Amino acid sequence: MATDLGNVIEEIQSKLDIAEIVGSYIPLRRAGRNFKACCPFHNEKTPSFVVSPAKQIYHCFGCGAGGDTISFVMKHENIDFMEALNILAEKVGVKIPRFKGSSNGKSRSSASTLHRINEFAANYYNALLIGSSKANNARKYLVKRTLNADIVSKFKLGFASGEWDSFLKFAKAKGVSAVTLEKAGLVITGKENSFYDRFRNRIIFPIFDLRSKVVAFGGRVLDDALPKYMNSPETDAYVKGKHLYGLNFAIDQIKATDYIIIVEGYLDLIIPYQSGIKNIAATLGTALTVEQIRLIKRFTNNVVIIFDADEAGEAASLRGLDLLVSEGLFVKIATLPRGQDPDDYVCKNGKDGFLKIIQGADNLFDYKLKLLLKKFNPTQSEDKTKISNEMLPTIKRVENSVLRADYISRLSKALFVTEDALNDELSKIKLDYSYLGEARKANKQNFDIRPAEKIITGLMVEDPDIAQKVREELRHDDFNSQEIRDIVTVIYRLLDENKIPNAARVIHNLNDDHLSHVICEALSETENFIDREKSFKDCILRIKRDNMICKRVKLTGLIKEAEQHGDDTRLMGLIRQLDMLKSERV
Ligand code: GTP
Ligand code: MN
Repeated sequence: MATDLGNVIEEIQSKLDIAEIVGSYIPLRRAGRNFKACCPFHNEKTPSFVVSPAKQIYHCFGCGAGGDTISFVMKHENIDFMEALNILAEKVGVKIPRFKGSSNGKSRSSASTLHRINEFAANYYNALLIGSSKANNARKYLVKRTLNADIVSKFKLGFASGEWDSFLKFAKAKGVSAVTLEKAGLVITGKENSFYDRFRNRIIFPIFDLRSKVVAFGGRVLDDALPKYMNSPETDAYVKGKHLYGLNFAIDQIKATDYIIIVEGYLDLIIPYQSGIKNIAATLGTALTVEQIRLIKRFTNNVVIIFDADEAGEAASLRGLDLLVSEGLFVKIATLPRGQDPDDYVCKNGKDGFLKIIQGADNLFDYKLKLLLKKFNPTQSEDKTKISNEMLPTIKRVENSVLRADYISRLSKALFVTEDALNDELSKIKLDYSYLGEARKANKQNFDIRPAEKIITGLMVEDPDIAQKVREELRHDDFNSQEIRDIVTVIYRLLDENKIPNAARVIHNLNDDHLSHVICEALSETENFIDREKSFKDCILRIKRDNMICKRVKLTGLIKEAEQHGDDTRLMGLIRQLDMLKSERV
């Protein structure tokens, strides 16, 4: 089975043109043999995203994203491997046979298993809510919260009854093991390997991904018990901060209106949605992450955040929104009366009332400035700096120079200071991009790799003859860096299978973002080499010499140790080894 899938993947890949596929998502500009674009995975002004048709890979020198066509589609669409493969198979007209479980990465197949289990659970809870007498109170509760049957069915709301194991029993009877249910976060391990249901006596809100697959659940109590909401733990199918609740149902309307309303809670989304406001998604009570912002950016650049009056009073609570500005979005803030959330507000004032609040939203700059001017006195020197210290980091993140100049001019008038002074301070601000953390970390680790090892890796994935020759000279453990060893292991395996170890194939087989990045970096170094033959020979020599030096240093250390311990037999053996090493010439 596994090799069958392998063949299908090979066939699809051979028919794909990375430039065509990537070009269907983002505008590409030709640059010599390659194509360039502004990276879709991080916000940038000058293009550092490169697509290489010759190598069938892409790489961003800014954020480190990189991979083959399939991984691009996975990343861009935020979907799993099989989904991306299906999309691409359709494009190139290849039929994918049905497989039981794929050979590609445990977490991938397990994510799709979890999707199925979650779907199954959502159906169970939903059927209970709609049909069971156990759910009488739950149904009453939802009526009290003004939810109608259509919306309950659209969001597939459900009910988990009060017993400790009713879902567990039901699932087991259908042949799903407790261990799998635990992986899905639906049951919890108790004492002595017993299991019990995570969600009991709660209204169930399935959390969907963009393709409307159930990835997790939230459960709300029917009374004032605590915790009010309980969520699934993180699983292979659900990582916190990577999804936005309700976004799957909002896409069309976000595109049509060209903006998105961001709220906090499940019902803050569902109640407005029921009233007809459908361009809305919920963060579920946490700060927006960069992944969520990128999801939004696929559909619109305009965001309206709803704040209740309490949190809106603090400039600090706005700082999180700078991330949206950094990512190039236009942010507006709408404020609800004290103590009300969108759910209350729509219940009391209807769709039109809520839309008025949205229309009255201020942009982040104005909103922040108004707030600060209420709190501080702009005629006093110290307050001037307090205000500018809050405003400037936001302004700094604005990419459009005209807009930035306008903000500076307005701030200068509000604070009675010159634009020059503000621009001077602006130039001192260093923005914190640590949220790009992962990619940066990946960049850093690469410094540990010896240049010769990196270069030879680039040369090997560019030219199968070189790969073959390197293989005759170096074993995979002759490489010092673990990353390169992993890469070389795959290259050698592909050679064994009589497959050309080109970059796209190696990256695909590794299935690891960091290692893809290492390969792409290596390629960017070797790309312009002229004398490849000499280069790879130099590298082999270098690696052998380095290893030799390492061995010598090690042996010398051991010899000293043996001397100190007076271990003569061992000493003789070690000295003989050192002599042999010295006589080996590289
Ligand atoms: P309702 O009382 O049902 O209207 O909920 P709400 O959405 O008004 O609640 P609140 O404003 O307190 O919280 C907003 C969102 O934060 C909720 O919808 C949940 O997603 C999340 N949340 C609230 N309380 C909890 C909790 O105790 N645990 C967890 N995990 N999340 C919570
Ligand atoms: Mn509420």
